Amino acid sequence: TPVVVLISGTGSTLAALLQASRDTDCPYEVVGVIADKDAPGLDHARRAGIPTTVVRLADHVDRAAWDQALADAVAEHRPQLVVLAGFMKLLGAPLLEAYPGRIINTHPALLPSFPGAHGVRDALAHGVKITGASVIEVDAGVDTGRILAQVPVEVRDDDTEATLHERIKADEQPLLVDVVKRLSARG
Ligand code: GRF
Repeated sequence: TPVVVLISGTGSTLAALLQASRDTDCPYEVVGVIADKDAPGLDHARRAGIPTTVVRLADHVDRAAWDQALADAVAEHRPQLVVLAGFMKLLGAPLLEAYPGRIINTHPALLPSFPGAHGVRDALAHGVKITGASVIEVDAGVDTGRILAQVPVEVRDDDTEATLHERIKADEQPLLVDVVKRLSARG
């Protein structure tokens, strides 16, 4: 099953998806990686020989033009599934309408708690003792889509945003890989 991955950051989540895809019985293949900036994570794709595209908001006349360009870049790869792996922009109608129920995102908190760009920091600030990661379907809202899978992660007294996020990622990545495999096997 062809999968396109969208990233904005370091790409450790992308790296986990690529690593799992090397197993002979893996039901998905990452056929393209697209970023909204020169994300360091693009290197993981380049090293794997996977085509990369950067679609910058600043290179387009307005948000609608960028939304269309992003949808076009994704469509070139004819994916069955689109995976947001640390992609930090909201998707517009062109992409959402082209892949209904086939775009998923991973978020480093137990939704519906702590949506948005700072899920780890917000959970820590709130003093929760358990947080985690959620894999969701993407809709037009901010982390509002249907929840597909979750994993709990304990918050430690001495956690910083960085230490907690690292521990969340350790459980978040296998969770996402599982969901992508499950959706891919479904066809
Ligand atoms: C993940 O925790 C993702 O849920 C969040 O940002 C992190 C991505 O990290 N939105 P990376 O760029 O894959 O290393």
